[in-house]
Amino acid sequence: MSTRRQVTALPFLTSLTVAALVAAGCSSTSSTSGTGDLSSEAVTTSTSSDPTTTETATPDDTTPEDTGAATDGDGSGQGSGVSGADSAGDPLFPGVGNGGYDVLDYQLDLRVERPTVSGVASLTIVPTQPLDTFNLDLIGLDVDTVTVAGEPTNFEHSGRELSIDPAADLAPATEVIVVVEYHGNPVPIDDPAGPAALGWYTEPAGTFVVAEPTGAATWFPCNDHPTDKATFEFRVTVPSDEVAVASGVLADTVDNGDGTSTWVWQMADPMATYLASVVTGEFELIEEPPIGETQVRHVVPAGQGDRLGPILARQRPMLELFAQRFGPYPFDSHGSAVVESNLGFAALENQTLSIYDAQFMGVFVPDEFTDRVMAHELSHQWFGDAVSVATWGDIWLNEGFATWSEYYWVEQSGVDPWVGPSPNLGPLVDLAAPNLFDENVYVRGGFTLEALRRTVGDDVFFEILQTWVERHSGSVASTSDFLDLVQELAGDTPTQLVEEWLNAPQMPALPPR
Ligand code: ARG
Ligand code: ZN
Repeated sequence: MSTRRQVTALPFLTSLTVAALVAAGCSSTSSTSGTGDLSSEAVTTSTSSDPTTTETATPDDTTPEDTGAATDGDGSGQGSGVSGADSAGDPLFPGVGNGGYDVLDYQLDLRVERPTVSGVASLTIVPTQPLDTFNLDLIGLDVDTVTVAGEPTNFEHSGRELSIDPAADLAPATEVIVVVEYHGNPVPIDDPAGPAALGWYTEPAGTFVVAEPTGAATWFPCNDHPTDKATFEFRVTVPSDEVAVASGVLADTVDNGDGTSTWVWQMADPMATYLASVVTGEFELIEEPPIGETQVRHVVPAGQGDRLGPILARQRPMLELFAQRFGPYPFDSHGSAVVESNLGFAALENQTLSIYDAQFMGVFVPDEFTDRVMAHELSHQWFGDAVSVATWGDIWLNEGFATWSEYYWVEQSGVDPWVGPSPNLGPLVDLAAPNLFDENVYVRGGFTLEALRRTVGDDVFFEILQTWVERHSGSVASTSDFLDLVQELAGDTPTQLVEEWLNAPQMPALPPR
């Protein structure tokens, strides 16, 4: 292997690219833009989804049907509240998320009998305005009942919107519990940002979740936008010979005495809906010694622990290095889920439980490529998960930072990763939904940070990254927040340099070291 080879960002490489990489004797990767050979599995699942299906239900059919949350629904004749918006207002995904309240916590009680899921979701919400009606996002599942503050409540479910019409207006700034009972066979939706399928996957051997950016609503009712992060508890019931792993730490396992067990996982730090993860089925749970206070567990296909355990353990020195450079690892647990399925990309940074397409974990892929994928996903725990994007158009703050981290890891092994990529990678602003995960977002994004690093030096550069995480962990931040921080800690010239890297039609040249 040559020591000066071009390094491209891996995680959006496809299974087609894996084949190319193997055929090329592993000396370089071609970096297609995330299109390519997708498993018929993923495509079939995706096309069978129908988010436009309309389902309505009113527990009390003497009550006239509410006309929906988009209107200033005072149809019940009560209250002076207004409807919560049926969108979080993200310019790239207008129909996604909702307004009028914040979710503080999700308690998700799921019984998984492949392919069926029966769920009870209890959301603690705080209205940010007087609310006559409000919406949750939920796609394609049947809603059985909704209660608000313990009272059975009218609702309407159409497309992505579950509109809830409590008997009385909800008061602002007062916590209220919303409980949704639902069931069905969750099906992924088409990926608005690529050829993949997003949401809850059901495979012969198990289920798992791949939801970035808008697929969480395929498996639980939620405010499906990163601006509304919340804590989570997952109570997942599966046959006793299967496992259930979720984001967070294992709080309990209960043998229900009826051939099923319930696994309870708690995520005590705020999490964006798209990063919530549940994996069930014929898997092995691998526990590693903690790293400091951080619990470490992985979940891999049954029988593969001996092979995959040592590969996944190679993340330990990465985590230690990143914690030194970016600040403490942001969560109580760390780990990975490996699944035998074509995801359409290598991996996704689910909070505390990044998910990997098994095709990228050894066997046909050389160790250093697997390590780069793992370094990339691990760094997302700081950049993407602890600090999430304020809008999806800020995605370079996730992918550029993770690509920079991936290259930084490569640098540690004595390989120079900063060898010129194609100079015509386009700007990082004004992206459209289909281009969120294009090569420029990753590679030009990563080079943008490297240009900043070379301009301000390592000390100031890492001070910027650490302050970024310190200030915004548990919340969201935007590109202009980043520019403000660079201005604050490094002044005018570096700020202008970053602006140039973000905006210039042509990718600028990397400053010399
Ligand atoms: N965030 C993932 C990664 O780079 C890639 C997700 C691609 N998502 C998609 N919907 N195509 O680690
Ligand atoms: Zn990434």
